[in-house]
Order: sequence, then structure tokens, then C-alpha cells
Amino acid sequence: MRGLKVVTIGGGSSYTPELVEGLIKRYDTLPVRDLWLVDIPEGEEKLNIVGNLAKRMVAKAGVPIDIHLTLDRREALKDADFVTTQIRVGLLKARAKDEHIPLKYGVIGQETNGPGGLFKGLRTIPVILDIAREMNELCPNAWLINFSNPAGMVTEALLRYGEFDKVIGLCNIPIGMRMRVARMLDVEAHRICIDFAGLNHMVFGLNVYLDGENVTERLLALMVGEKTPGLTAKNIPDIEWEPEFIKALGVLPCPYLKYYFQTDEMLREQQAVVKEQGTRAEVVQKLEEELFELYKNPDLDTKPPQLEKRGGAYYSDAACSLIDSIFNDRRDIQAVNVRNSGAIASIPAESAVEVNCVITRDGPKPIAVGDLPVPVRGLVQQIKSFERVAAEAAVTGDYHTALLAMTINPLVPSDAIAKRMLDEMLEAHQAYLPQFRQSSHSDI
Ligand code: G6P
Repeated sequence: MRGLKVVTIGGGSSYTPELVEGLIKRYDTLPVRDLWLVDIPEGEEKLNIVGNLAKRMVAKAGVPIDIHLTLDRREALKDADFVTTQIRVGLLKARAKDEHIPLKYGVIGQETNGPGGLFKGLRTIPVILDIAREMNELCPNAWLINFSNPAGMVTEALLRYGEFDKVIGLCNIPIGMRMRVARMLDVEAHRICIDFAGLNHMVFGLNVYLDGENVTERLLALMVGEKTPGLTAKNIPDIEWEPEFIKALGVLPCPYLKYYFQTDEMLREQQAVVKEQGTRAEVVQKLEEELFELYKNPDLDTKPPQLEKRGGAYYSDAACSLIDSIFNDRRDIQAVNVRNSGAIASIPAESAVEVNCVITRDGPKPIAVGDLPVPVRGLVQQIKSFERVAAEAAVTGDYHTALLAMTINPLVPSDAIAKRMLDEMLEAHQAYLPQFRQSSHSDI
């Protein structure tokens, strides 16, 4: 059997040891021969630190995976089998701006939701579309697995404007929810199944099963009242749900839904935390420094547990399970971002959705859920419209399209505030938004 070539773009990320650990664990069924870690010149130092740790990890595990470090993306992509993308255009400094600027206007500052999500998309989509173009030329048979946020909007852009079809958007939230549900019920995760449907960072568990028995109501009861381990992620404050609301909702909301159903409380929480420790970008910056200090240690040859303080825990399980299931045609069920193709009735067939899929060698096959419950359907459709308009703005660099995207986002209170935030954020991020340089808005 020929060994596989996996390429990770944004390979200098502090998350890479997760991925390496996942590949090592699965080596018997997923024979990766070459892992190429690619980064940009600004990321070279980190790439070397992470790359050397990756080399020590495979040596310690005794698996024959060759780790290659490069700044030459085209060289890496040639004849790849799987390409994963985990890029942060503008690095954490840009994330800090995405989080700080909206807060000045009394709006949630978050990297994948509201104005921050819009701008992360505007910066990221053109770069990912370039990667897709290069893949079409250099590795047309590979799969592109994108983790770069906002993963739903990026998948939407790839499906609408990309020159490459074998595209899957991936997030750790569904797998994280399953792990946490298992912890809440005090059982092993493999006994839990969740019917996931919605969008990235706006996904719902329509039903939760324990050994095949529907335990949704029992679980929703556990989500409120006494503090449970909580269905949240490390990067999302765990404000308690209103018990009667959760009961009435009847489906399991992903933790990002707190920004929509608890907007005021989440805003107040952000404003309080920012004063003490800065935004999440600043917290993560410190965590990263700590992690890279550990990674530099030549005696470290496994993934350090400190990595679990990041919101993206279980990425490796999500990514490696997906690659393993495609390669081995496992036909198991995983929640990923793919073309809807009728799986969720009220979302356009050609749009990206996050939904349970059967994972085959031919890619993910979405499982039809019928429709979303009426109380959440409208919000999901509104976010889908936002993602579509935002993706169009990212591709065209059109100011008015960007203004529309900003204004229709449900976390933005008015057209006037939308315009002021848009103008300030376009200015703040101009170095990473070349597509907007041509368009003038002085006539507004
Ligand atoms: C969650 C999300 C990811 C996101 C991460 C941020 O897990 O699902 O999409 O990247 O949190 O974590 P961080 O530690 O960077 O705040």
C-alpha cells in the first residue's frame, strides 16, 4: 500500500501537535508517509519549533512518518492526498482587533460571530480560494479539509466560488458536544449519538441518544439548575441558561448559541473580562507563548496537556477520524460542513450546512433531517444569508455588499452602527484586505 501525503497549511499553529498525535494513534489504519507542514515567512520560527516537536513525537512513537517543513506551499501541495488548512490571516493581532472594535460600539466582539466573524471571513476567504485553485492544479485528487474560521462561511465561499470540489469544512464543536454530553451523563462517548443539524457555530443536537435510547429531555434537564460540567467550550463563557427556555427549546444548542440567546449577558461578561485580562485573543496570546516555550524543550516528545486550555480541543480527533474514514471507506457518521443537497429543507440546496454525514471514500454523504424546528429555523436562515452576503463581499471586495453583510447580522443593532464599525474595521485591517483597496466609499 502506498503511504499517504498529508499537507497542513498553517503548520506552525500551536494546534499542530494535536494533529500529529492523532496521526500517530491511527498509523496502523492510516499509513501517512509524509506530513508537510507549511507556513508563511512570518510564521517560520513557530513552524520550526512545532516541526521539531512533531519530529520528536514521531520518533518517540516509532512510526515512519517523515515530517517536512516548508514555506513553499506549491512544493508541498504537489500530489498531496489530504490537505488541511488552519490559517489565521493577520495572526492574533487581527483577532484582537476583531474582538475590541465591536465592543467599543456595544456589540459582541467574537472571532467567528458578529462583526469579528465577518472580518475574519473577509481576510481568510481569498487566501483559501487561492489554495483551492492551486490544489486544482497540483493535487486534483486530494481532499481539502478546512478548519480555518469562520469555517461555515469559508465552506460557503469554497462551494460557490472555489475551483475545487472535494471540500469539507470541519469544526471541533460537534465532537466536543458529544464528549461533554457523555461527561454529563457519566458514560463513555462512544455510547452517545447526536443528530446534528444547522450551520457551523450554529448547530443543534435535534436528538441525543444513549445506547440508542432518546435521552434529549433528560439531558436538557441536566443543562440547567445545578452547575453541571457544562456544554461549553474553553473560549466561551458558561453563563447559565434560563431553565424554562431550555425546556421549551427542546433541542440541544451548541455553545455559540449563547451569543444569540443571551446577547446582553454575554456582552456584559465580555466587557467585564476585557478590563481584567483583555479579549480572548490576548488570553490566547499568553497561552501560545507558554505553549511555544514548552514546545522548544528538546526533551518534550508528546503533546503537552496545556494545549487543552485552547478552545479547539479534539480538533485532531475530528480531523484524523475524518481522514481515516475517507481513506478506509468506513461509512460511519460524522458532523461536517458540506453542500446541503436537500439535507435540511429550509436551507438552499447549494449552500454549506453542518450536518451528520455518512463518511465514504467518495466523501461525506449528508443525512436528511427534514427541517429544523420553527423556533430556530429563522435564525439559522438569517445567518445563512449573512454568510452568503459576506462570502460575496470577500470575493468582490465590494463595500456595499460588506455593509449589507454587517447590517443583516443579528448581533448588529442598526445600519448606522454597522457602517461605523465597517469603516473602522476596514481601516484597521486594510493590510489584509487587498480586495477592498479599489473600492471607494467616499460617496456614501
Ligand atoms: C472553538 C471553536 C473553534 C475555535 C476555537 C477558538 O473550539 O470551535 O472554531 O477556533 O474555539 O479557541 P481559542 O482557544 O483560540 O479561543
